[in-house]
Amino acid sequence: MRFLITGGAGFIGSNFVRYILSTYRGTRVVNLDNMSIGSNPANLKDIEKNRRYKFFKGDIVDLKLVSKLIRDVDVLVNFAAETHVDRSISSPRQFLKSNTLGTFNLLEQVRKGKGVKFVHISTDEVYGEITKGSFKESDSPNPSSPYSASKAAADMLVLSYCRTYGLDALVTRCTNNFGPYQHPEKFIPKTIIRTLSNLPIPIYGTGKNIRDWIYVLDHCEAVDTLVRNGRRGEVYNVSAGNELENLVVVKRVLRLMGESEDLITLVKDRPGHDFRYSLDSSKIRKLGWEPRHSFRAALVQTIEWYKQNKWWWKPIATKKVLHPTPWKLRW
Ligand SMILES: NC(=O)c1ccc[n+]([C@@H]2O[C@H](COP(=O)([O-])OP(=O)(O)OC[C@H]3O[C@@H](n4cnc5c(N)ncnc54)[C@H](O)[C@@H]3O)[C@@H](O)[C@H]2O)c1
Repeated sequence: MRFLITGGAGFIGSNFVRYILSTYRGTRVVNLDNMSIGSNPANLKDIEKNRRYKFFKGDIVDLKLVSKLIRDVDVLVNFAAETHVDRSISSPRQFLKSNTLGTFNLLEQVRKGKGVKFVHISTDEVYGEITKGSFKESDSPNPSSPYSASKAAADMLVLSYCRTYGLDALVTRCTNNFGPYQHPEKFIPKTIIRTLSNLPIPIYGTGKNIRDWIYVLDHCEAVDTLVRNGRRGEVYNVSAGNELENLVVVKRVLRLMGESEDLITLVKDRPGHDFRYSLDSSKIRKLGWEPRHSFRAALVQTIEWYKQNKWWWKPIATKKVLHPTPWKLRW
């Protein structure tokens, strides 16, 4: 199978590139990434020389480039996106451009080509918050941030292209990922790195907000399942059932790292902060997928990875990136 993977130099994308090349010997991967903030050239250093892998630095908004790269592929998996909610609040424009216009551009190229399967990676955040119960795929999007709105708009475009043009496309909506190669601006890496640096750990509001966590390799396997068996025009929720308050996650990291809870600092809440996300993922489970990693074991592995790979995060964990919030608290 020949893949075009967009956003493959970021966190989930790079894990997926590595996973797919090591799992299937006949697979070829072209990775298109514009190397914006979530990316890191070091993410795929170990496979740079793999003859089944090719990297192109470029933007999914670049019609010419995408039309050239899409010619010889069977599957396009779109991970490319601006992904940090905080940054989407302070500067939303690029989110609309990459996440919505970029996806539209990919759809147009898939429409013009022949027989490419398009797997669009979306997020649980498009549903907005839910206080009780769990969202099903049939629930309507109700996004709260410019990030989730830009993703929801892209989802709608994908589904409309299936309906109108008969594209072989589907949408995945996964919960919060964690694991190796996640950028230090994100919650779990930031907590680990700040703990290693003996810096206060900022948590928004009361720390009671709930997220459902999934280890990145479980997400990669879910995407693989959908590449193979996902049905055209469908949405698939992906979740592992590890719903935890943010405060609890930070306390677990601190305990596993043998550090005191005194580092915890509650800071002013983020505008539009969703209280809880929760997904019903029974639909993809019927296809045979289920998460294989327990939250605890995966968290231990992730902490260990950040301890052993300071060379990877030190150059990108700048003051600006680790700065807790754009609107409060200095360090
Ligand atoms: N991280 C999570 O918890 C999570 C959960 C559910 C869904 N998702 C989705 O998964 C995808 C990947 O997320 P991630 O956490 O790996 O993000 P990331 O920020 O680590 O990686 C995104 C990658 O996309 C690239 N990119 C951005 N705009 C681009 C453009 N216009 N053209 C080409 N490349 C571009 C970036 O350079 C980066 O390498 C995103 O679509 C995100 O919405 C993430």
